[in-house]
Amino acid sequence: MKVDVLLGLQWGDEGKGKIVDVLTPDYDVIARFQGGPNAGHTLIFNGTKHVLHTIPSGVFHPDKQNVVGNGVVIDPVIFRKEIEALQARDVDPTANLCISKKAHLILPTHRLLDAASEHAKGKAKIGSTLKGIGPTYMDKTGRNGLRVGDLLSDQFAARYDALKQKHLGMLAAFGDDVPTPFSLEEAEAEWLDAVAFLKGLRLIDSEHFLNEALAAGKRILAEGAQGTMLDIDFGTYPFVTSSNTVTAGACTGLGIAPNRIGEVIGIFKAYCTRVGSGPFPTELDNAEGEALRQAGGEFGATTGRPRRTGWLDLPQLKYAAMINGATELAMMKSDVLSAFDTIQVCTHYLHDGERIDYLPFGINPDEVTPIYEEHPGWTEDLTEITEESELPQSLKDYTAMIERETGIPVSILSVGPDRKQTILRSGRK
Ligand code: IMP
Repeated sequence: MKVDVLLGLQWGDEGKGKIVDVLTPDYDVIARFQGGPNAGHTLIFNGTKHVLHTIPSGVFHPDKQNVVGNGVVIDPVIFRKEIEALQARDVDPTANLCISKKAHLILPTHRLLDAASEHAKGKAKIGSTLKGIGPTYMDKTGRNGLRVGDLLSDQFAARYDALKQKHLGMLAAFGDDVPTPFSLEEAEAEWLDAVAFLKGLRLIDSEHFLNEALAAGKRILAEGAQGTMLDIDFGTYPFVTSSNTVTAGACTGLGIAPNRIGEVIGIFKAYCTRVGSGPFPTELDNAEGEALRQAGGEFGATTGRPRRTGWLDLPQLKYAAMINGATELAMMKSDVLSAFDTIQVCTHYLHDGERIDYLPFGINPDEVTPIYEEHPGWTEDLTEITEESELPQSLKDYTAMIERETGIPVSILSVGPDRKQTILRSGRK
C-alpha cells in the first residue's frame, strides 16, 4: 500500500478540507503532516459549515482514523477549542484521533514572539496569522522545542519554564515597543489547562502507527496545509510559512519513506488568491479583483482577512505540479468565474526582456510581467451541475487547456462549497 497526498498548489486556501472530506470514504486513515492552527480548512455539508485548524478533515467520518503527524505544530488551547466545538455539534473526534508524540507545541510566548517579530519587520512584515507558527518551527530546528511526548515527562514543568524564560529574554531584546496582544499570565493559565486536556488524548508514535497501517493494507491520505507557494524552500521566500508544504513534507512530517508515496492530488483554484504579503504576479489590485473577492467569498477562514485575488498563473501552477510530482489535479471554485464574461490566464512571464514559461528565482513586479491569454468565460450557474457532461463547453475547454499545459489530468472539479457540489470526472480511480 502507498500513501496518497493531497496538497495545495497555490498560496493556500485552495479548498483542501472539502476535497479531503469528499475523498475520505476511499481511505482508512487521514493524516495531517505540517502546519498548525494557521490553517483553516472549511467543510460544508448538510447545511452546516465547519472550520478545522489542526484536526484532520476526515474527522466527520466516524469509522476513519485521524492522525496529527510529527510535522504539525499544536496550540493546545486551539486544539481543545476545536474538539469542543465539534462535540457541541455532536461530533466526537476524540475516539478516532491520535497525535504524534513528536509534534511540537506552540507556547503562549511563541505567539508573543510572532507578534514582536512581525512588528519589528514594519512594512516588510510577512502578514503572519500570528498563531506562533514561525517561532515554534524555529525552536524545532534550533533544538529547543517542547514536543507532545514531553507532556508525559515529570520534567515538563521545568522545561516549559526554561523555554518561557528564554522567550522572555528574546522578547526583551525587541525593545520597549513590543506589542502585547494578550496577557501572558491569563494565556499561560489557559494553556496549562489545555495541556492537561491534551494529555488525556491518544498520544502515539505515529510513524510506527502509519507504517504498520500500511503493512496491514490500510489506505492513507496525507492532508497538506497552506500551499506550495508558501513552502519554506520553494515558496516566495521570505513571504512563506515555516514548514515544507510540498509532497516531501509528507515524508518528513509523517515518517513515510519516499517510495511509499502513491498518488499526489494537487488542488488549485480556477483563479489565484493569496493572504498576507509577498509577490503575486497575476494579482488584480482593482475593481475586477474586488469582484472576484466578492464572488468567491475570499476572506480568510482563520483570520477573516480579505484575500488578494488574481488570474490563474500557469508558470506558477506548472512549477508547483513539478515540485510535488502531482499525478492528478482538483480544480476548485470554477463556479466563481461564472461572474466573468471573459477570463485571463497567465501563460508566460516577461523576464529580463525574454518570454519565459517557468518560474524564475524572483517573481516580484520588477522581475516578471505576466503575459495573458484570453479565454471565453461560462456565465452559466454551475452550482447545480452533477454530471461532467452537463458542464458548459467553455469550462470543458478551460479544463482541457490546463491538462494540456500541465500534462496532468484534472480528475476533480468543484462547482460549489458543499460536499455534494463536486464532480469526480471519468478516469478518477
Ligand atoms: P504563518 O504561517 O502564520 O507564519 O504565516 C506566513 C504566511 O503564510 C502569511 O502570509 C499567511 O497569511 C500565510 N498563511 C499561513 N497559513 C495559511 C493558510 O492556511 N492559508 C493561506 N495562507 C496562509
